[in-house]
Amino acid sequence: MSAPGTPSAHGPVIGVFDSGFGGLTVLRALLPRIPGAHYLYVGDTARLPYGAKSQATIARYAVESARLLEQRGAEYLVIACNTATALALPEIRAAVSIPVIGVIEPVVQAAQQKHPGGNVLVLATAATVQSRAYAHACDAHGLHATEKACPLLVPLVEEGWIDHPVTQDVLRIYLSEALADATPQAVLLGCTHYPLIAKQITAMLCSLGSTAEVIDSAEATAAEVERVVNAPKNSTAPAATFECFATDSVEKFQRLGSLFLSRPIATVHLLDLGG
Ligand code: DGL
Repeated sequence: MSAPGTPSAHGPVIGVFDSGFGGLTVLRALLPRIPGAHYLYVGDTARLPYGAKSQATIARYAVESARLLEQRGAEYLVIACNTATALALPEIRAAVSIPVIGVIEPVVQAAQQKHPGGNVLVLATAATVQSRAYAHACDAHGLHATEKACPLLVPLVEEGWIDHPVTQDVLRIYLSEALADATPQAVLLGCTHYPLIAKQITAMLCSLGSTAEVIDSAEATAAEVERVVNAPKNSTAPAATFECFATDSVEKFQRLGSLFLSRPIATVHLLDLGG
């Protein structure tokens, strides 16, 4: 295995995990960035959602995925889940001996660069909001954060209800409530499921009179992974490849996952991470 920052000849092996499909939006942003990389993606679909669970449970689940990816040869680890990043980053870092990149710091830095000293609204799962991880990260970067838990959005996205009247209604209620307490310059999508409804969120913000810019963690995280991996720029390197593992139905993962990844997923391996 190569030392961190020194990719081996075969290209870096990068482990990515999420509670389910949402992290595929991060993988989608990563694929074009590091030619020659091989990604191992774990979606813990049997135990999703993490966003309604306790810190101890989230940390236990996240550490299991992290260890498995390291055992399978990952040289870098991307926590493509805001909930696991918010509640289990120290436990994950302690459990593996490879560089670990979470999704919160990169997106907060991106917001800080675009709107220094600004007000941001963070939309996230209940567990992420309760952890105050975004509030602390924003504070450290001179941003003022208002957080809004949006627990109904993950199941709606999982259902594939992207352009759906129910999703519109739910967004209208969540965003009106949030905008009653804040006038943000940026809205941070603090859950990896939300990029799938980013267009709908932008449109709803607009119809509620907000001009806030929507920033998601996928692109910002992918840029940070590219910086950490520091792979040599090689125009002849082959396209990046990926392999997916899921802890529940492989058929559902192929069907829904292709939506999140914006490309077909040929093979999904069934994985047993325990109870
Ligand atoms: N992907 C998770 C996140 O980014 C949300 C889904 C879940 O609750 O497990 O927070």
